[in-house]
Amino acid sequence: MRAVDSICLDAMTREDAWTLLNEYTSNPSLIKHMLAVEAAMRAYARKFGEDEEIWGTIGLLHDFDYEKWPSREDHPYRGAEILRARGAAEDWIQTILSHADYTGVPRSSLRDKALFAVDELCGFLTACAYVRPDRRIATVEVDSVKKKLKQKSFAAQVSRDDIINGAAELGVSLDEHIAFVRDAMAEVADTLGL
Ligand SMILES: [Fe+2]
Ligand SMILES: [Fe+2]
Repeated sequence: MRAVDSICLDAMTREDAWTLLNEYTSNPSLIKHMLAVEAAMRAYARKFGEDEEIWGTIGLLHDFDYEKWPSREDHPYRGAEILRARGAAEDWIQTILSHADYTGVPRSSLRDKALFAVDELCGFLTACAYVRPDRRIATVEVDSVKKKLKQKSFAAQVSRDDIINGAAELGVSLDEHIAFVRDAMAEVADTLGL
């Protein structure tokens, strides 16, 4: 295997991104979050006729610096610096920076909007699956997700505004978005343990 330091992101494969991610992250929940976001980004890329490998790889990488540097002062800036030092394309870095609302980096491309739209929803859907008797993502119902979105105490750390605004920015209805991301996660349910 090539040393991670030698990777140029312009030619970065999904496997290269996976290696980089595992170099910085050991928390299984966080790794699963990035895998969920990857699956959702791949699905949206297919829907919109965009490059599935690029969208998926960016999804896989978007929080790779979070475990080491979780503060708003550091994440996702540290990751962006690391990617830049390794020759990442500036538009990849732009997408990753724009997933955190507080960076103020505008979400200008459809890819930026998709990443923002799926990020918090993936976490929320995981929480919805965990409280089901079967713990399966595939059987999570849209209506029950919407009900839980209104319950402030359920998965309280997940921003409802980000989910609702994310869908609106992406130009999809909330119902459609929830069902779409759930189905994308269900495709990799075994990997996600859901
Ligand atoms: Fe993040
Ligand atoms: Fe995330």
